[in-house]
Amino acid sequence: MSEIARVLKTFIGYLKRPDLYPELGRKIIKNTVNRGNAFKGKDKTNSWAAERSVSQKESILKLFGLEMDAFRSDYSDALKTAVQREKDCPVKMGGPGALELIYYACEFTNAKHVVETGVAYGWSSLASLLSLSKRNGTLYSSDMPYLAQDGDQYVGYVVPENLKSNWKLFRFADKESLPKIFAENSVFDVLHYDSDKSYNGRMWAYDELYKHLRKGGVFISDDIGDNSAYQDFCEKNNIETTVVEYEGKYIGVFIK
Ligand SMILES: C[S@@+](CC[C@H](N)C(=O)[O-])C[C@H]1O[C@@H](n2cnc3c(N)ncnc32)[C@H](O)[C@@H]1O
Repeated sequence: MSEIARVLKTFIGYLKRPDLYPELGRKIIKNTVNRGNAFKGKDKTNSWAAERSVSQKESILKLFGLEMDAFRSDYSDALKTAVQREKDCPVKMGGPGALELIYYACEFTNAKHVVETGVAYGWSSLASLLSLSKRNGTLYSSDMPYLAQDGDQYVGYVVPENLKSNWKLFRFADKESLPKIFAENSVFDVLHYDSDKSYNGRMWAYDELYKHLRKGGVFISDDIGDNSAYQDFCEKNNIETTVVEYEGKYIGVFIK
């Protein structure tokens, strides 16, 4: 699909969904007058992150006192099935991130309530649900549908049927989803941010999500090297964060 066709298809997809009009307005501003916002402070944050980054394994041991090796063997069948589902999916989205970090954050907090932004195939959702289902807990997820690719129906495609009773998926932009999620449940044990990567989008969501994280809960944000929003958020709130390097990108994680 050419770039113009993709933009047009996305635009038509938005027009068909009045509940997404507020996000359409924000997207137009983001991609015109606010373009620089995506990379604001990127260089500063990349050197800050590089100086302090550790591996996923080290972070799980240091923060949660847990070894991470059992995850791959305990869930090898579930993970194999998910890999196959991803291959069979007609719409292409991003692959798995640091699944162990999410899973062991849930184990460490004995999580019953988790909130995440950004689902795509649902790899991060799968990681949380594998832990949450042991305690009959609930994952609340927010994701904008993939309007350009008719991808709405494939959001969360790798999540198996048997885990769906522990899952509530809100198909709106975060600015609409999060208030709806907080109205259903106000305090969370773990949060995972992986959606709107702009500086302003992160700052708004980090503040909102942080207020709803319990003391002792775990805050995780993906791709913190895109701009300085995560670093600035931590500095503003005097938060000592751990930075994980994973496949050439940085993830921020701390215990509240
Ligand atoms: C990197 S992917 C998420 C990957 C997922 N966490 C995983 O582990 O497989 C980012 C997702 O965020 C969604 N997204 C982007 N901007 C958003 C917004 N403002 N509100 C809600 N979702 C958004 C996209 O639709 C996309 O599915």
